[in-house]
Amino acid sequence: TTVPPLDIANVQGDILAGLPKKVQHYLLFQIDDDVQAFRQRLKLLIPLITTTPQVQDDRAKIAAAKKAATEQGKPAPLVKLSGINISFSHSGLVKLGITDDLGDAAFAKGQFADSATLADPGSTDANGNFVPNWIPAFKNPIHGVVLVSGDSELTVTATQAIVNGIFNIGAHNATMHEVLTIKGQVRPKDEKGHEHFGFLDGISQPAVKDFDTKPNPGQETVRQGVILCGRENDIVAGSNPPVPVVRPAWALDGSFLALRYLFQLVPEFNTFLKDNAIKASGLTPEQGSELLGARLVGRWKSGAPIDLFPLQDNPTAGVDAQQNNKFRYDFPDDPHTQDRCPFAAHTRKTNPRADLEDLGISTENRRIIRRGVQFGPEVTPDEAKSGKTKLGRGLIFAAYQSNIVNGFQFIQQSWANNTGFPIQKNPIVPGFDPIIGQQSNLAPRTLSGTDPNNQGANLSLPTEWVVPKGGEYFFAPSIPALKSKFAL
Ligand code: HEM
Repeated sequence: TTVPPLDIANVQGDILAGLPKKVQHYLLFQIDDDVQAFRQRLKLLIPLITTTPQVQDDRAKIAAAKKAATEQGKPAPLVKLSGINISFSHSGLVKLGITDDLGDAAFAKGQFADSATLADPGSTDANGNFVPNWIPAFKNPIHGVVLVSGDSELTVTATQAIVNGIFNIGAHNATMHEVLTIKGQVRPKDEKGHEHFGFLDGISQPAVKDFDTKPNPGQETVRQGVILCGRENDIVAGSNPPVPVVRPAWALDGSFLALRYLFQLVPEFNTFLKDNAIKASGLTPEQGSELLGARLVGRWKSGAPIDLFPLQDNPTAGVDAQQNNKFRYDFPDDPHTQDRCPFAAHTRKTNPRADLEDLGISTENRRIIRRGVQFGPEVTPDEAKSGKTKLGRGLIFAAYQSNIVNGFQFIQQSWANNTGFPIQKNPIVPGFDPIIGQQSNLAPRTLSGTDPNNQGANLSLPTEWVVPKGGEYFFAPSIPALKSKFAL
């Protein structure tokens, strides 16, 4: 059967375009026993779901308001807008009686059962089962998640009230109930767009063929099926030569969402950078700490890639889309030395570019689209002084792909946690991704190449600064699938 050309109005807005947000709530829910009532209510939600063209319109409004304000020498105003998307877990599908095999083993298993594969810290219970150190809410089935985003807490709360009303949440005739709502918000002022360790995030995303038609320099274009199920290059995990996945027809233009509730120990991270500042002539201790941080992440806090700016930050380049993605780890010395970027730096581990491509290994099916948001307050003076986290904060990691086994799961398990990756760096063993690499037993991690002047030395990381406390795998159906398969 031939697949019709992509109509982006069929695709939920967060996937390809990203719901614009200052605030975003993730309402994790369970469907109540009257499944038919839930389906009827879902029918009322569908017209409110933000589609891709609607996000494009919203973004155009934001850009126009910004332009007008700049011309008048005023700061950009907040454009009032909100968005809604919905996704279902495997247990949610089961609850709804949808038994088709969606063709993704990680999704079918659920993230709780997958946590051992991801090497989340945890322990073995009396029955010999691995149990991750997650918060209780994620240890019980979660059937789905409603994403509510907007320009402010007020807008999002108002939009969430509409969602609650549709499903009668909390009322005697409720059709779903809340397991947990995680509330994320973009960090304030100059930290806007930066994650809690301080680094600019959301810079490098794959461009999607015939959708992102003007990729930035260095931005790789992937075929639509890498992100959207049922489209070109949506392939069976690990198949070589690639074999298209067989999925039910209604899966077309859906995408899998890997959600992770990741806490970040910011004062502890900062203390480590301070205590292990890179020492080199001409560097102050502060500069040595900044350099170490940049070498752990692969970018300076400004966003500037260290492959291009190995010794000194370049804040202008950091925010310049013409420059900040234009690198491949393919300078003549890059493949065998760590002069510019440690092999295990977070950005290199999670998108190794030339490290694999120049060996003839494609990374196209490993690419994911990241749409996360920060949660929790800024570090308090007391926390900064004591070096100890007292308030929970971190990243609600949310990534879309057509295949979790090829995408998120592979990146976490076979790259970030794999000390031998990137491959063929003998005799150097790259070590763990210092940001997200992990082991279930919390044994100390090491990585190599953090000190540009002493690249053979391994740096030992005493603690993990990113602590997974939950997560789930979801499927974000197309609008037609929601209508025909999910709603009544
Ligand atoms: C890039 C931080 C978790 C995958 C980045 C960047 C930062 C960052 C600062 C650079 C900005 C950019 O290139 O867009 C973090 C933090 C995390 C986290 C603080 C946890 C709290 C994860 C996880 C994954 C991941 C769990 C997947 C398993 C990626 C990818 C890139 C990236 C694919 C883009 C690399 C590139 O294309 O060059 N992250 N990240 N990150 N991260 Fe993370």
